[in-house]
Amino acid sequence: MNKLLIGLLLTLGITGIANAAGDATAGKAKTAVCAACHSADGNSAIANFPKIAGQNATYLVKQMKEIKEGTRPVVEMTGLLDHLSDQDMEDIAAYFSGKAIQGGKAAKDQLELGQQIYRAGLAKKGVPACSACHAADGKGMASAGFPAVGGQHAAYAEKQLKDFRVGSRNNDPQAMMRDIAAKLSDVEIKAVSSYVQGLY
Ligand code: HEC
Ligand code: HEC
Repeated sequence: MNKLLIGLLLTLGITGIANAAGDATAGKAKTAVCAACHSADGNSAIANFPKIAGQNATYLVKQMKEIKEGTRPVVEMTGLLDHLSDQDMEDIAAYFSGKAIQGGKAAKDQLELGQQIYRAGLAKKGVPACSACHAADGKGMASAGFPAVGGQHAAYAEKQLKDFRVGSRNNDPQAMMRDIAAKLSDVEIKAVSSYVQGLY
């Protein structure tokens, strides 16, 4: 718990400084290429492509910079961000974060376990409640760099949790998500991912 708390404070400190404002109108003009996969309004229709509508702008900028640098490898986006400046990415983030997310539904047979993990964690395994960082309504905590997860495609969320678990996604500050995902079984990951899809 102490480690989590320290991580939280550090993250707050770091993201508190980098809060430049983006221009959503300028951003829209730079998103034509993104629409093919994420849809024009950021509500991607394909379960493996994340919805980015309504996502916190600070989180979106962080991901774009890391995808551009290769710190977070996304092969589908190879080269797509190379020509974008930091300001362009701020603008694009402002555009997508201003759109409303269109959520989905949780599978009925996953609801009980998924909700338990999300709201209460798994005390026996040392898994904290997801809601502690991603908020009870799934909207995350922008100032701390915690992304919204509510309404996200279950298949995408599931893939991220598995990527964190094996460490192929490792851009989470203080290994916050890697430590948590390492303690989750496939069954638990599936249930909590289904739950977040219906949370919005
Ligand atoms: C060919 C399909 C494709 C195109 C075009 C594309 N993306 Fe992506 N994007 C992806 C995929 C796939 C992922 C997630 C991969 C993974 O981690 O599983 C992703 C992830 C992201 C993420 C991280 C989302 C999150 O929740 O962490 C952001 C932000 C993003 N893309 C922005 C953009 C922007 C901005 C553009 C246009 C300049 C763009 N993408 C174009 C496929 C695409
Ligand atoms: C201590 C805070 C914390 C807790 C608790 C936490 N997360 Fe996270 N989570 C994060 C952070 C920070 C990131 C973003 C890392 C980054 O900057 O790329 C993240 C990212 C994610 C992502 C990827 C989002 C995206 O759009 O790519 C998913 C999915 C996720 N968390 C699910 C969960 C689930 C499910 C739980 C509960 C089992 C959980 N998280 C608990 C802090 C937390």
